[in-house]
This record gives sequence, structure tokens and C-alpha cells, in this order.
Amino acid sequence: MRVALGVGGGIAAYKAAELARALQERGAAVQVIMTDAALEFITPLTFAALTGQKVITSLFSNRGADEVLSSAVEHIHVAQSHDALLVAPATADLLAKFAHGLAGDFLTTTYLAFTGPVILAPAMNTNMWLHAATQSNLEALRGRGHLIIEPEEGLLACGTSGPGRLAEPGRIAGEVVRMLTARRGMAEGMAGETVLLTAGPTQEALDPVRYITNRSSGKMGYALAEAAASRGARVILVSGPVNLPAPAGVEMVRVRTAVEMRDAVMARLEEATIVIKAAAVADYHLREIPAQKTKKAAAQWTLNLEPTPDILAEVGRNKGGRLLVGFAAETQNLEAEGRRKLETKNCDMVVANLVGQPGAGFESDANEVTLVLRTGESVAVPRAGKRVVADRILDQVVKLRREPGRTP
Ligand code: PMT
Repeated sequence: MRVALGVGGGIAAYKAAELARALQERGAAVQVIMTDAALEFITPLTFAALTGQKVITSLFSNRGADEVLSSAVEHIHVAQSHDALLVAPATADLLAKFAHGLAGDFLTTTYLAFTGPVILAPAMNTNMWLHAATQSNLEALRGRGHLIIEPEEGLLACGTSGPGRLAEPGRIAGEVVRMLTARRGMAEGMAGETVLLTAGPTQEALDPVRYITNRSSGKMGYALAEAAASRGARVILVSGPVNLPAPAGVEMVRVRTAVEMRDAVMARLEEATIVIKAAAVADYHLREIPAQKTKKAAAQWTLNLEPTPDILAEVGRNKGGRLLVGFAAETQNLEAEGRRKLETKNCDMVVANLVGQPGAGFESDANEVTLVLRTGESVAVPRAGKRVVADRILDQVVKLRREPGRTP
């Protein structure tokens, strides 16, 4: 397990030494990269002595021609030869640079060249942490699937108290090692797969202030995204509006309407090897949305709704060698309805779930489903937490994927 540890310039930089040690204790080889600002707080010698590795401090160096050439591509080499990029402390400046793709030094160029999991452990003054600019940069970074290890609350070096203190080095190292172990251990499961998932409801506008929607919380789809990512799959999660944090290691695409969800799914379909449609997409919408708020004048308001695009059916028509999993929210005849959808939408599996009962389906933390498979079999998954149900669904996905004749 090889971890590239980027050290930013903040008072917490000294804790990065403890972090390097904690990573090594957990079996990781650590390559330290220091920014110019970090050099003001701690010397490279400390890290070199701890890790037994040369510490990278600069993108350029005053070396001979051959060495200059090799140093010019060293950040690419570091990016390609490490399993994770961890940045701690991640300062407000580094978060902004990563969010906007600025690449003026070794660490920021390595970030852009790195395609594996990125873990950021921010530390800064409370007001800087809470500032809208920092929070919007974090949102962008979370949306790229990076794991943010939130700072802890406590007394800060500037004398104030609040969130901003670097998380405990042991906790950061534990998270990094857990993430890498999960990716490795489950590599058999879904490594090499790209799962395109939809989750949550859609909102269909009636006028500039009103909309129709449904009770989907997104919990089922987000549980699937987390489970697929922890099995080593690349996950693209197209999500309607929900109140859930982005799962770690997942690429987020946020949408509001059924048409936006359709466009996002079709735009990313090419990348996917597996498509799972857990979203509760509105079936009807207003095609023409009034520009002004509808006044409460008449005794009745009649809506002339038209069908939204059927995304599942469109993916079914264009699925190629992909494995397609649809959902069916039913109040009765689970299996029969599931099989009907499986055939009409050209799915490989339909997750038929019982809705309209307390404790399962929409909004709740648990679910109870019947997996209707294209092989003719059906598998009942009894009531359990949505993360457990997600794993049972993925067990069947992996089985179907292994059947001969599937591409890619
Ligand atoms: O989000 P939670 O609160 O955790 O709840 C989970 C859930 C109940 C929403 C989820 O488990 C579920 O059942 N999702 C599908 C809900 C649904 O819309 O079912 P449906 O039977 O109406 O649709 C069938 C399938 O067609 C679904 O895969 C749906 O994503 C898809 N669809 C529907 C309409 C449409 N216009 N386009 C579609 O692709």
C-alpha cells in the first residue's frame, strides 16, 4: 500500500509527521510531498528520517540536464505509482487550488495527474473553514468523489475555539487504510466496473415557486453507491435533490428534473458497464412551465401533465453489453410486476420493492425486496438495513456479470 502524503503549510503541519508514522504502522509506504508554505513550519529532514524516503519539495531543481528532465515528469511518476493521495493538513489555499485545477507546484500538479482515491484532511481557522468560498470548494471536491476527513472542534492555534483542528492522525491513517483495504479486498467483486447509478426523487416545476415530487429520500440509491464503491467499482451517482452527504469515493452528478436526469444518464452511459436505476423519477411533468407564479384566483387549478422521458426504457433500448438493473416500487404482486418491467424495459434484473408499508421502501432506513432475474429466478431479500440490501443486490449483479457472453 503506497500513500503519497501532501503536507500543506499550516500550524498543523507538525502533526503530519505523526500521521506519516501512523500510516507506516498500518503497513503503508509513505512518500511525502511538501509545499513551500509547509517548509516554513517543519523541515523535510523530519519526514525523510521517519519515512526513509527522499522528501519532494519542489517541481523544479537546479540539476543537470538528465535530472531536470526526470524531475519534470516526476509528479506523473508519483501520481502513477501510489494507491492514494492524502493531503494533511489541507489548507484553504490548497482546497481552492484543487477545486479550480491550479497547478503551480509539485503537490497541485500531482493532484491533477492522480486518478486514484484522494483523501483531504483540512485544518484551518474556524472562520476560514466556515467561509462560503471554502465550503463551495469542498462541495466541488466532494462531488469529485474525494473523501474529506472533517476537521475536529477544539482550541485552535489562533486562540479561538471551533471547527478547524486537524483530525487525529490515527483517525486519518485508519480511514485511509480502511479505504484502501476495502478497495483491495473487494477487488474481486467489482474492480474494473463502472456503475452508473440514479437515486432520489425528481422535482417537476409547476411555476417558478412550486413543484411536484415524491417521497424518495435517496437512501437506497446512496447505499448502493457506497456498497459498489467499497467493492472497488468506479461509481457515477446521478442524484435528484436529497439531504444526504455524497458517499466517499463516488462521482456526483446533481440534477433536479426527470429531463435533467435523462440527459445526465445518457451523457454518461458510454462510460458505464453496469446501470442501476434506483431513482423515483416523476412520471409526469408540465412541458411548458409558466414564467410567473400562478395566482390563487380560481377555485380549482387543473394541471395538464405530460409523461416524462422513460429513462429506464431508453437505456434498455441502448444498453449494448451493459448490465441493466431497474427498480419497481409496488404495493402488491411484487414478483409479477417486477417480471413485467424486466421484460418490457429489457432489464437483466428488477429490484421489486414493497412500498406503502411502514418500515420499508420510501424514506425508511430498511427495505424488503424481491430480485427478479433474467435467468428466470427470483431471490427474496427479507427486511434489512438498506446497506445490507444493497450488498445482496450487488451479489446478484456480480453473479450475472460473470455469466459468459457479457461485454465489455
Ligand atoms: O429513496 P428511498 O427513500 O431510499 O426509497 C427507495 C425507493 C423506494 C425509491 C427505491 O427502492 C425504488 O423503488 N426506486 C424506484 C421507484 C420508482 O420510480 O419505481 P417505478 O416502478 O415507478 O419505476 C420503475 C423504474 O423505472 C425505476 O427503475 C425508475 O428509476 C425508472 N423510471 C421511472 C420513470 C421514468 N420516467 N424513468 C425511469 O427511468
